[in-house]
Amino acid sequence: MSAKIIDGKKISEFFRAEYKERVERLARYDARPGLAVIIVGADPASEVYVRNKGKACESIGMHSEIHALPAETTQTELIAWVEKLNAMPAIHGVLVQLPLPAHIDDRAVIEAIHPDKDVDGFHCANMGALVIDESPFPPCTPYGVMKMLAFENIPIEGKHVVIVGRSNIVGKPQAMLMLKAGATVTVCHSKTQDLAKFTRDADILVAAVGRANMVRADMVKPGAVVIDVGINRLADGKLCGDVDFVSVSAVASHITPVPGGVGPMTITMLLGNTLRAAERKTQLQMLPTGTAFA
Ligand code: GUN
Repeated sequence: MSAKIIDGKKISEFFRAEYKERVERLARYDARPGLAVIIVGADPASEVYVRNKGKACESIGMHSEIHALPAETTQTELIAWVEKLNAMPAIHGVLVQLPLPAHIDDRAVIEAIHPDKDVDGFHCANMGALVIDESPFPPCTPYGVMKMLAFENIPIEGKHVVIVGRSNIVGKPQAMLMLKAGATVTVCHSKTQDLAKFTRDADILVAAVGRANMVRADMVKPGAVVIDVGINRLADGKLCGDVDFVSVSAVASHITPVPGGVGPMTITMLLGNTLRAAERKTQLQMLPTGTAFA
């Protein structure tokens, strides 16, 4: 079997075309969506991601601004930046690029972002909403995975989804989204014993561990759908995922490449969440006062 490649770039183009139209509609009401990204320090990978987020915003007519702060920025100073952006009407989404320097508590900073501008969906109010029902801002990477599967008409209900990785950014929210879609979900992690026993039972396998090529063909059920969330840089500078693409392609029915798979979808969902933040705000402003939403 040679797996069908799920093309994240192509799927992204489909969504971005629709988002562009919605951005133009908001711009006509003087409500052009705006995203502010804060990056602290000079991690090269984070700098690339942040630049790509800015470019993606521009490509669909969104306003974007990047605030690059020095590595010595204190937690108090960073939270003051977040609060300033929370109060800016032209900014609908505030994103603090992770990881942050070790002297800053990620959680304290994330909780300072106004939940209505939390386009990463990491604030505990939005994470809680995701667990109970539906968040207005599903975290971008797992949300992108759901959109890719939907685009490819891959059924989820009743399937066994195995997620390798339990991070707050991917593994945990991915599990919630899959549960909501009717899957039976197993979350594996670094302490899981006999990992292959679980992965071999997956109808849909999501690898989000950050270890180059760790999922091999003998860990995958023939015909499974394999989603590779990993982005690892090899010694020669090349990017690769958590899945050994060549060998797993011979076993799986569908597979996402790295680069060009989940990565572009993550940024596309960030655009979608920022757009939604702007649309929600505009709708709130257009409602007459005295309603539950005013
Ligand atoms: N670092 C790696 N992925 C992400 C993400 O989705 N959001 C933020 N804020 N930082 C990240």
